[in-house]
Amino acid sequence: NNRIKIKHLLENPTPEEKATLMGWVRTKRSNKHVTFIAINDGSCIQNYQCVADPQIISEDILRKANTGACLKITGTIVNSQGAGQSTEIQATSIEVLGEADPDKFPIQPKKHSLEFLRENAHLRVRTNTFGAIFRVRNQLSFAIHQYFHEKGFVYIHSPIITASDAEGAGETFQVTTLDLKNPPKNKEGELDFQEDFFGRATNLTVSGQLEGELAAMALSEVYTFGPTFRAENSNTTRHLAEFWMIEPEMAFFDAEDNQNLAEDFLQYVIKFALKHCKEDLEFLDKRAAEEEKGKKADQRSDMGLLERLDFVTQNEFVRITYTEAFEILKASKQNKKKKFVYPIEEWGTDLQSEHERFLVEKHFKKPVILTDYPKEIKSFYMKQNSDNKTVAAMDILFPGIGEIVGGSQREENLDKLCQRMDELKISKEEMWWYLDTRKFGTAPHAGFGLGFERLVLFVTGMGNIRDVIPFPRTPGNAEF
Ligand code: 4AD
Ligand code: MG
Repeated sequence: NNRIKIKHLLENPTPEEKATLMGWVRTKRSNKHVTFIAINDGSCIQNYQCVADPQIISEDILRKANTGACLKITGTIVNSQGAGQSTEIQATSIEVLGEADPDKFPIQPKKHSLEFLRENAHLRVRTNTFGAIFRVRNQLSFAIHQYFHEKGFVYIHSPIITASDAEGAGETFQVTTLDLKNPPKNKEGELDFQEDFFGRATNLTVSGQLEGELAAMALSEVYTFGPTFRAENSNTTRHLAEFWMIEPEMAFFDAEDNQNLAEDFLQYVIKFALKHCKEDLEFLDKRAAEEEKGKKADQRSDMGLLERLDFVTQNEFVRITYTEAFEILKASKQNKKKKFVYPIEEWGTDLQSEHERFLVEKHFKKPVILTDYPKEIKSFYMKQNSDNKTVAAMDILFPGIGEIVGGSQREENLDKLCQRMDELKISKEEMWWYLDTRKFGTAPHAGFGLGFERLVLFVTGMGNIRDVIPFPRTPGNAEF
């Protein structure tokens, strides 16, 4: 077909030329002499104005050109008298490709609540807000690949179905072809996975890290970028049961190299979005400002969205250890003015998201890289520090988000790794293939995982992770 996209037309106005547009009606206004149709084709946030003369376009067609209907418009591009855009299309013919009954189409030209739009997730992409979010998501995804490709990393496709629980947290979704209504049982009366498709129990992956480590021991710098699944029953604005994760893994990197890479990477992709999603981010910035107005004064953020994005790309992240953070949090308990509600009592307890947000939003007012966590609250594969108490972990905390990245230097020493696995009762027999990395040509290495939706949440200024993935999967929600 010979259609022109609206983005192209706005960037290259061609008065007097003929053009064909296709897209969906956002609004229609009519008077006796003329009908104005604002059309959007998703190529950019702007609508394009179509001017239809009732002497040329039939009444029947104009009646059907309602919000939500899909049109093919052919006409002449002319200079526009209206404010806001330089050109418009004077229709010579309009074809209704798909009608939308105004009494039934749920997305009307008015402000709908995000809750309502979540219930209509199959149609919500037809709003300005969701169009902008998914274009930003797309650009961020591209920026991530570009960043690693420029640095010579190899993109590794890690499997979705695995037999391991990489994080050892027991939050996996089982995959099975067993007939659970009539389950085969073994001698012990348990499900007999030998009868299963793979001849063993399998689950959806929680992380591509372990496979990333295998690949890094040959290709030296790799990354994965794929869907990951966690059956954690946390109904928060930061958790999904299905989310996308970016996991670089680098041979010969120590903990500090890992931190440097993560900081540079985050700043790069956010700058990329600022450059390539200018109009969408300006729209989302205004939207976020509106939301802020509805909040109580003490819960309002000090910065607008664009200001915050600039700030993060232009300031070094703060780097402190868990132990230093613990001291700050403990001291802050006495400071009532800072309204710190969840005191931290004991060295060794994991930080709650309230703690993380306090450090980032109230104390430092900058992204924070927290390192050297107590080994008890981190995974088995992390490199043990010489104090015997902490591991070379890092979490990156962002304003408004809390943890956005989790990573570590890995324990490359076979004996130490085996000892830790024994302590945590992780089967060395089942993980023989992972231990082979330490048996044959082991090397110091490190990596991290970025939760993609948490990044999109930060960049778009949205408040709920369900609104930055097209079809969110959360407890009780997997309709379409
Ligand atoms: O901290 P996590 O669990 O670390 C790992 O999975 C490591 N294997 C990463 C690595 O070192 N290669 O998860 C990493 C990030 C978190 O910081 C968070 O941004 C995101 O993944 N994340 C989630 N995002 C949305 N919903 C959930 N349920 C998430 N769980 C983790
Ligand atoms: Mg984590």
